[in-house]
Amino acid sequence: MAPMLDRRATLQQLARAGAALALARLAAPVLARPEAPRFTDDPFTLGVASGMPRPDGVVLWTRLAPQPLETGGGMPPVAVKLQWELADDEHFGQVRQRGEVWTGPERAHAVHVDVKGLPPGRVYHYRFHCGGATSPVGRTRTAPPDDAEVGLLRLALASCQHYEQGHFVAHREIARQDLDVVLFVGDYLYETSNPDFRLRRHGPRPTTLAGFRRHHAQYKLDPDLRAAHAAHPWILTWDDHEVENDYAADRGPLHRDPQAFLALRAAAYQAYFEHLPLAPWMAPQGPDMRIHHRYTWGRLAELWTLDGRQFRSPHACPSAERPVGGRISGACAELMDPQRTMLGFEQEAWLQRGLAHSLRHWKLLGQGSQISPWSVATPLGRRLFTDAWDGYPAARERLLAGIAEARIGNVIALGGDVHRHVAADLRVIPNESRSPVVASEFVTTSITTRGLPGYAQGLVRSSNPDLKHARSDERGYVLLSLDAQHARAEFRATRFPVAAEARLHTQAVYAVESGRAGVQAEHPEGPSPAPAIEP
Ligand SMILES: [Fe+2]
Repeated sequence: MAPMLDRRATLQQLARAGAALALARLAAPVLARPEAPRFTDDPFTLGVASGMPRPDGVVLWTRLAPQPLETGGGMPPVAVKLQWELADDEHFGQVRQRGEVWTGPERAHAVHVDVKGLPPGRVYHYRFHCGGATSPVGRTRTAPPDDAEVGLLRLALASCQHYEQGHFVAHREIARQDLDVVLFVGDYLYETSNPDFRLRRHGPRPTTLAGFRRHHAQYKLDPDLRAAHAAHPWILTWDDHEVENDYAADRGPLHRDPQAFLALRAAAYQAYFEHLPLAPWMAPQGPDMRIHHRYTWGRLAELWTLDGRQFRSPHACPSAERPVGGRISGACAELMDPQRTMLGFEQEAWLQRGLAHSLRHWKLLGQGSQISPWSVATPLGRRLFTDAWDGYPAARERLLAGIAEARIGNVIALGGDVHRHVAADLRVIPNESRSPVVASEFVTTSITTRGLPGYAQGLVRSSNPDLKHARSDERGYVLLSLDAQHARAEFRATRFPVAAEARLHTQAVYAVESGRAGVQAEHPEGPSPAPAIEP
């Protein structure tokens, strides 16, 4: 980007202006705002993104951060105005809408533009301008009209991108795919570090808003992640690592005091919002943030994104050494308590109402984990991970019984979190062949995060006949294609550790036939169809 003024001189100038403004604040309640600083360094280092596509609009995002790893992103602590424009073509010959938006240090100089009034079912290009600098160009699209007969929906399902544990080669491929949308279902970043699997560093565990902002900035500096954001609109929900591993509502393993944990959660949610293409109305209020939402794709599909963290009951049967999360074997009466919930009763009711009234062909549940069972049979009883849906069996049964009793067809759960590709049947009573299959599930493996070792994964497979496919040895994402006849999941994958130039292959292909719950193998093991990407 073209140098304008020396950055230090600009900062000194702005510091003097800030002091003058502080004095002026004593006299006048309304302050004059500088239009935009002049940058010597590119302020668009974190790229651009779009998300939450609707038939009439989409959210555009960027954050000004000329020094992204510095506190404040290298921005002066003042309000700044940006211009945005959205066009039919990538050269901006046909600009359809443009506007101005203010941002400031209270939101890390991030912007979330909720563009409205766009024609449905179209591809658009967008960019931002500020202080003589222009952002990279992003590509996005609006959803088809609500009542349209849509032939095809193609989405990439992704989750679990530990920066330290590999390169984001899966995002490199996602960026080049012909997709309608990316559905990211959690663990967008990791607060933890494992020195055994560290290929690169992402900085210390964040504990403050400044720390979470730096962490998000570190992730966005990855060019493959930025490319995937710039190429497609994203729909997101979260899991635990965006805040703290295995947290449940107001409790975290490292924060037994709810007030201390909620302060951490507020910082984490604020930084999460600031760095992702989420609608302005989603901005958190302290430690609370609404992320569950409903999306449509013509008459072909309806998608509910679910929040399995903010409203869940505490983990069942905690041990003294592991008060939150962990594994249990054998008896735990609390596990079956019907008062325990994964989504919170309000969100459960909202989802069941939505499912019962949906007129769309496919009903998709985008959520952070694996609904199908994966506990392991042992001589002491089933050994299960209390943080997973296995730890909330009554909530799982309510969800699936609600689908069965209302005879809701073509429901597919789309999950992540467990670092393995899974195709599974969903029954009201898991693994019980007399309990009919009422829905289907595809779970994506991680973008990078290490999966279960082979022997443990073998036990998971042999203990759970509902899992038709479950492999934890490769990283990647799921390419999902939906039409009126089939939902087809192509498990794209590469072996761990992920080399910087690794190429993905198709590990397996599974499908759900319209009107018939349950997954069927098309190609249970590779080789399989070539990806539809340009070289
Ligand atoms: Fe994860």
